[in-house]
Amino acid sequence: MMQRDVEIDYLLMNTRRDDVRQWLGDALTGLGALVSEDGSHEAFVEQISTIRPGLVFLDFSGAQAKVSGRLAEHVVRLFPTLPLVAVGNPSEPEAMLVALRAGVRDFIDLRGNPADATAVVKRLMLPRSQVKAAEPTRRGGIVAVLGARAGVGATTLAVNLAAAARRGAAAEVLLLDLGLPVRDAALYCNVSPQFHFVEAVRNLRRFDQVFVRTALAHQVNGVALLPLPETLGELRDISYSEALALLERLRAFFDLQVIDLGGFTNIDFMAQIVNAADHVMVVAEQSLGAIVSAAELLQELKKREIERDDLRLVVSRFDARLGVDAAQIADRVGVQAVETLPERREALLLATNRGVVLADDLPNDPYVRAVDALMERLGYHAGQAAERGLLARMKEKLPDAWRAPRGKRAGN
Ligand SMILES: Nc1ncnc2c1ncn2[C@@H]1O[C@H](COP(=O)(O)OP(=O)(O)OP(=O)(O)O)[C@@H](O)[C@H]1O
Ligand SMILES: [Mg+2]
Repeated sequence: MMQRDVEIDYLLMNTRRDDVRQWLGDALTGLGALVSEDGSHEAFVEQISTIRPGLVFLDFSGAQAKVSGRLAEHVVRLFPTLPLVAVGNPSEPEAMLVALRAGVRDFIDLRGNPADATAVVKRLMLPRSQVKAAEPTRRGGIVAVLGARAGVGATTLAVNLAAAARRGAAAEVLLLDLGLPVRDAALYCNVSPQFHFVEAVRNLRRFDQVFVRTALAHQVNGVALLPLPETLGELRDISYSEALALLERLRAFFDLQVIDLGGFTNIDFMAQIVNAADHVMVVAEQSLGAIVSAAELLQELKKREIERDDLRLVVSRFDARLGVDAAQIADRVGVQAVETLPERREALLLATNRGVVLADDLPNDPYVRAVDALMERLGYHAGQAAERGLLARMKEKLPDAWRAPRGKRAGN
């Protein structure tokens, strides 16, 4: 059964209009299963990664045109080889213009002959085998590491998390060194990368396995590294949505992206990344100052409507003898989940001075064990990171995918 399901050709569309679904469904009988996803932008992109359609229809009729225009730009960037077809009425030339500008070159006229639609789809649709080859099937996670204030240990945690994830699961791991001071993480890992974040955004459409392997710098332990540009002003050349599109795109190549945001001063940008991440940690220490700063940081995020119940506070340099326990700190900051990392100044400094990452060097060090435990709690244990293959996800989503087209036909 599973075998046959995987061979199915899918067509995905974003319309809310039943008449459009109906019309398309009829025109496409026999060409594949038509699935509609009319939820959020993210849900649509997620659906593309999940079902891997051979073609995507975007509804440019009436008020939907604007939304579809933005979605098209996003999809073109993330899935450059995926054929996009605008569905609409030639009597709405403005909508068609929006489609063209967004990079959609093919149209289906809803008032035209269904046979024309069939022909367009037959011409453009990617065969199943090619869809699978074109896009890697990985869909990795993103962990964002924030620092409550300078010097609390955000970079140290990010570097060790990345190394631990790589070691445990032989996973593909990317460390995004977006913290300030610029390129601290690279320094701790003893790498001087050329290719940077802004360049990566500019080259988004060129990303494939080869490009990822050759353009990005790698640490000795195999963790890839992407730093900020040396001149921070370059960040102004890219938009938030482009930066987010890059993170989304990189999920296809890395089981885990660890983003060091410690010291990053652009809170709006930080908020967007926090929103996109699967896990978020705020590093603080046992000092009153750091605790207050952590609370303030959460307030700033809240002002931008970012409230995550799953946000974790990580109390670094934790020393039980100081008599301030972690639960109290969490309470004060207003988070539910709290972890501690032990005070290991000497071991960390010695490792840095030798140009190695502690997690690679001394897997049994108490700091590294605490980082491992943290990873476990996020759901990444040895051998697990790459587990969610296409098949597993298909299995999960298939019932829905089937229901959409079938339900429609049943309603005839
Ligand atoms: N758990 C710890 N125990 C002892 N020392 C630590 C611990 N974590 C980090 N340090 C040390 O604290 C210093 C600052 O750490 P790190 O650079 O990771 O902090 P940061 O939050 O990234 O700082 P910045 O604001 O400069 O980016 C480093 O010398 C590091 O070795
Ligand atoms: Mg730092």
